[in-house]
Amino acid sequence: MKKICVVGTGYVGLVTGTCFADLGNRVVCVDISDEKIAMLQAGEMPIYEPGLEEMVERNVKAGRLSFTTSYDEGLTGAEFVFIAVGTPSGVDGEADLRYVRMAAETIAATMSAPLIIINKSTVPVGTGDWVADIVSRTQPQPIEFAVVSNPEFLREGSAISDFLNPDRVVLGSLDKDAAEKVAQLHLALRAPIVVTDLRTAEMIKYASNAFLATRISFINEIAAICEKLGADVKEVAAGMGYDKRIGRYFLDAGLGYGGSCFPKDVLALEHMALIHGTHPALLRAVMDINRDQRRRVIHQLRQELGRLQDRHIGLLGLAFKANTDDMREAPAVEIAHLLRNEGVRVKGYDPVAMRAAAREMPDMQLAEDAYDLAEGCDAIVVCTEWNEFRHLDMGRVRRAMRTPVIFDGRNLYDPEIMRDHGFIYHGVGRGIWLNSDSDDAVNITPAIPYSV
Ligand code: UGA
Repeated sequence: MKKICVVGTGYVGLVTGTCFADLGNRVVCVDISDEKIAMLQAGEMPIYEPGLEEMVERNVKAGRLSFTTSYDEGLTGAEFVFIAVGTPSGVDGEADLRYVRMAAETIAATMSAPLIIINKSTVPVGTGDWVADIVSRTQPQPIEFAVVSNPEFLREGSAISDFLNPDRVVLGSLDKDAAEKVAQLHLALRAPIVVTDLRTAEMIKYASNAFLATRISFINEIAAICEKLGADVKEVAAGMGYDKRIGRYFLDAGLGYGGSCFPKDVLALEHMALIHGTHPALLRAVMDINRDQRRRVIHQLRQELGRLQDRHIGLLGLAFKANTDDMREAPAVEIAHLLRNEGVRVKGYDPVAMRAAAREMPDMQLAEDAYDLAEGCDAIVVCTEWNEFRHLDMGRVRRAMRTPVIFDGRNLYDPEIMRDHGFIYHGVGRGIWLNSDSDDAVNITPAIPYSV
C-alpha cells in the first residue's frame, strides 16, 4: 500500500485521490478551503459527479481515504504528492499559476522526506521546470525530490470511468526512476504508458484539448454551411465517422464547447504561441467559430420573432453539458446574457444545475421542470443534452408555449416529428427543410451540375 497525497479537491484532485484509494492506496486529499474539507469530512460532495459519492464513502469507511487542510498531515509518510489545483485564465488568456506556485511552495516548506511531485493540473509548457526551481529554492534544507508531469484526460460527467479506463497515461520527467515509480502506480489501469520529457508531456495535454476543440469548431462550421445548402450535419458527421482515420467522436454540432477546460486551454495555447513569436491562426479560428455559435442563436431568434424586447424565452438545460452541474463557460450563461441585453425575460431549467444556476445567474427566473419552463414562452432554446429532455411530452410543451418556436442547440429532436407537433423548429446545421415541400423550400442548383 503506497501513501499518496493529493493537493486540490476539484474534479481532477477529488477523482484522482478517490480512484487511487479505490485501487488500494492510502490517500490523503488536502485543500486550503476549510469549507470544502468540512463538506468532504461530512460525506458531502462539493461537486456533482455520477458515482463519486459512493466511491468516496466506501474508501473513507475502509480507512484508505481522508481529507484535511493540513499539508503536514497529507505529506507525512507520503511517497507521492499530486498537484491538482486550478489554473484559471489570467487577464491576457495566459494560465494563472498562483495556486500551483502556492502548492509547490507549501510542499517544499513542509516535506521532510524524499518525494515525487506529480503535476496533474493543466499548466503551460515549462511549468514543471519552474515547479522544480520553486521547490529547491523554498526547501529549508535540501531533500531529494523529482517532478513528473502526468496530465489528466478525464471528462466531467464520466470522470471515474475515464480515470479507471484511460486511453493512455502520459508521464513526463527527466528522472527516469521517478517516472518508473509513477508508472508502477498506474499499472493496475492496464493502459499504454507514454514516458517522455516534462515539456512534451505538458504539450500533449494542450494539443489534445485543442485538437478536440478544433473538431467541434470544424463541425460547427460545416453545420452553418449545411443550413444554407440543405444538408443535415448529423448525417454528415455519421457518414464521416465511418472513416477510421476520422472517427465519430467530438463531431456533434451544437452551441460550441464550454466548461472549465477547452475555452481556457485553447486560449492559453494561443497565448503561449504568441509570446513565443508564432502565429496561431487555426487556434484563433477555433475560438471565433465557438463564440459565433452562441451569437447565431440570437440572430435566428430575431429572424423568427422579430424584436426580442419583452419576449419570454426559456433555456432548457443550463449546465455546460449533460451529467454535470458545472456552469463554467456554459453556452446557457452567455446566451442568457445576450438575450437579457435584448430586453428578453429569460427563464431557465436544469435537472441538476439549479443550485449552481441560482449562484451564477441570480437574476434568472428558474422553472420547476421543462413544462413549467414552457409556460407562456415565445421560444425555447435547448442548451444542454440531458437525456430526460429527449423524452418530453412535446404536445404538452407545445400547448404550454405562447409561440411554438424551438431552437434545438443540441440537435436532440427529429425535425420532422417536431414540425408534426406544430413547432417552428431549428436545429444546428439541419438544413433538411430545404429538401421538403414546405413553403420555406428553395431550389438549390448544384454548383457543379451532375453529368454522365
Ligand atoms: C475535456 C476533455 O474531453 C478531457 O479529456 C480533459 O481531461 C478535460 O477537458 C480537462 O482538460 O480537464 P470536459 O471539459 O469535462 O473534458 O468535457 P467534454 O466532454 O470534453 O466536453 C467539452 C465541451 O465540448 C462541452 O461543452 C461539450 O458540450 C462540447 N462538445 C463535445 C461539443 O460541442 N461537441 C462534441 O461533439 C463534443
